[in-house]
Amino acid sequence: MIEVEISIATLVNNAGLLENNRVTTSEGFELNFAVNVLGTYTMTESLLPLLEKAAPDARVITVSSGGMYTAPLTTDLQFSDAKFNGVEQYARNKRIQVALTEKWTEMYENKGIGFYAMHPGWAETPGVSRALPDFSKALSGKLRTSEEGADTVVWLALQPKEKLVSGAFYFDRAEAPKHLMFAATSGSHALISSVIDNLRSLLSV
Ligand SMILES: NC(=O)c1ccc[n+]([C@@H]2O[C@H](COP(=O)([O-])OP(=O)(O)OC[C@H]3O[C@@H](n4cnc5c(N)ncnc54)[C@H](OP(=O)(O)O)[C@@H]3O)[C@@H](O)[C@H]2O)c1
Repeated sequence: MIEVEISIATLVNNAGLLENNRVTTSEGFELNFAVNVLGTYTMTESLLPLLEKAAPDARVITVSSGGMYTAPLTTDLQFSDAKFNGVEQYARNKRIQVALTEKWTEMYENKGIGFYAMHPGWAETPGVSRALPDFSKALSGKLRTSEEGADTVVWLALQPKEKLVSGAFYFDRAEAPKHLMFAATSGSHALISSVIDNLRSLLSV
């Protein structure tokens, strides 16, 4: 019998969406949260053993968004406010991805896995034209192509790890700030452990 040893050197958490309406999955989760946060969290946590096998070169790249600059980290994961705002929920989700990337570094960097969040820039994709039709029309021809949006993902996957900063947020092949001046978002990252506790409880793990 042949035994095959599987390892994963690079996991890219790219799946994501901005759903403007409050839609609930069959499991009862708000849809943006389910895909952007629960998906990212579950994929990463469940693939850790395979990533560890590719250490010290293993890495997790999470495609967040510059949209997160407007949102602090909140423990209101599924937007309990009666007046649902998909753009706000998307920004909150993308902020969680950045804070998770920091926390994962703290928890797992010693296992030889690097964690990086990034912003692809604004690219003309099916997701953008569906979720933000006015934005997409107004900037038609001026947005990035999908290939341009993917550039930093590929760069992060191929850089020698010693040139990268685990836990950081990248934009256009360079480390970028996680917080804008006067946005008052930086203190909110202290909530990440409580967010993770919530995720684990929702996932019953
Ligand atoms: N485009 C931009 O300007 C921009 C800016 C900032 C950040 N981003 C981020 O970039 C990533 C890619 O977005 P995009 O613009 O390329 O959008 P896209 O064209 O809509 O692609 C989204 C991807 O997510 C997957 N996906 C969506 N809902 C899913 C679900 N319920 N289950 C499994 N997979 C699901 C899609 O899979 P299917 O193809 O199978 O549907 C698709 O591969 C996202 O995380 C997005 O937030 C994009």
